[in-house]
Amino acid sequence: MCRPEHFTVSYRINPWMDPQVPTDTLRAVEQWQTLYETYLGLGFDVQLIDPLPGLPDMVYSANGGFVLDGKAYGASFTYPERQPEGPAYMEWFAAAGFEVVVPEEVNEGEGDFLLVGDVVLAGTGFRSASDSHAEVARVFGREVVGLTLVDPSFYHLDTAIAVLDPEPVDGVHNIAYLESAFDEPSLTVLRERFPDAVLVGQEDASILGLNSYSDGCNVVIAAAATGFERQLRERGYNPIGVDLSELLLGGGGVKCCTLELRR
Ligand code: ARG
Repeated sequence: MCRPEHFTVSYRINPWMDPQVPTDTLRAVEQWQTLYETYLGLGFDVQLIDPLPGLPDMVYSANGGFVLDGKAYGASFTYPERQPEGPAYMEWFAAAGFEVVVPEEVNEGEGDFLLVGDVVLAGTGFRSASDSHAEVARVFGREVVGLTLVDPSFYHLDTAIAVLDPEPVDGVHNIAYLESAFDEPSLTVLRERFPDAVLVGQEDASILGLNSYSDGCNVVIAAAATGFERQLRERGYNPIGVDLSELLLGGGGVKCCTLELRR
């Protein structure tokens, strides 16, 4: 995670961002702190990267890379405003003992790559290039399933899909998703692979409710996503609401602030 000490909205690279709307950095830090402490309370081992001045989006650490099997595939950002974050995260991975793979293709890390069991769901359409999907398949030797996003408000895969089960339950890994975020061929794939998925409504998705982190039991979600909260409870999960309204002004939520380190 990356404490949002330099958070603000000074440019616009997604529809959520409006530089005219004031941001409150102190409030962002306080809200982020609650998320951080929630993770510590759940017993997670949380590592921090130093925030760099001039990189207000660095708080969205999910975009810093994709880490699996002790290997960190670096990010290569779409927009120049975020490009310096790529090397900053790669330096951190190297110092933390991960084998760093410098990417050839444009990709925004775990924002667009979600591990579900042995398979990587990979988003494209707005940020990560589809060529990065093949690169991830090569680097990790895993099956990569490409999905195309069509709604600019859900520009990263982690704004449209939540992985609910990192470990299989009765042989199945479940997910939750927003149907309207995908093109028809992607929906066909999702319906085939996840017939029992939680289908989240527009209202919850439109506050980035899907942008959540699950350990398979506890699901940390946006506090305001009350419909999704109910759906999770019905399925036996324990939803935990956190208010990240300030970070929503940059177009990110719980998952965006969280990069998973898999050794
Ligand atoms: N302002 C950031 C951007 O547009 C938000 C990134 C959100 N991160 C995520 N994993 N969805 O790049």
